[in-house]
Amino acid sequence: MMTSENWDTRYATDDYVFGVDPSPFLIACQDRLPVAGTALSLADGEGRNGVWLAERGLDVLALDWSSEGLKKAERLARERGVRIRTDCRDMLTWEWPKGAYDVVCAMNFHFPAEVRETLFARIVETLAPGGLLVFEGIHRDTRDHHPPSALYDETILRRLCSGLTPVVVSTRMESRQHAKEAPTTKKKLNGLAVKP
Ligand SMILES: C[S@@+](CC[C@H](N)C(=O)[O-])C[C@H]1O[C@@H](n2cnc3c(N)ncnc32)[C@H](O)[C@@H]1O
Repeated sequence: MMTSENWDTRYATDDYVFGVDPSPFLIACQDRLPVAGTALSLADGEGRNGVWLAERGLDVLALDWSSEGLKKAERLARERGVRIRTDCRDMLTWEWPKGAYDVVCAMNFHFPAEVRETLFARIVETLAPGGLLVFEGIHRDTRDHHPPSALYDETILRRLCSGLTPVVVSTRMESRQHAKEAPTTKKKLNGLAVKP
């Protein structure tokens, strides 16, 4: 498991490790997203997803436990001429507001199965009625440095989101060259779901 210090070290470079473009799945969801309202971009890292949501008119809170990542998220927001709020927190101990967000963007974080259950319960609670969850994670079919139990498949995602109505569940292959790091190809699991 990487610590917040590990992430600070990884992000302490001028390059954007995950790039500045949002997830292709987030872009694919744009017609379903509200054009105003509140968004929580969880584990937002260097801000590529949170800043894109702010550019669409949403009032964004970018939460991550890496201060180095969030500094870069704020820089990206400034460069794009938008504002985001940032909060440097461990999401596992955060006091989640209930019914607060019109959008929760939950992308690319991987926790042990038992922690994940609680986390998704918090995500469902923090969505306002009619709110949308946009999800991305590494599919179990991909060999990764995370233990398989921290990865996702369609059944797991549907169970974790059982309090929501699924709109889209899909997979795609993603090849990336992260800044100066080695290129990777991963199968991604994506989901879009709405809170009744
Ligand atoms: C793989 S990166 C993904 C960043 C971003 N979501 C994206 O897709 O570009 C994982 C992020 O999760 C954050 N993270 C991991 N565990 C966390 C925790 N317990 N609380 C808050 N952030 C966490 C890391 O700091 C890192 O920025």
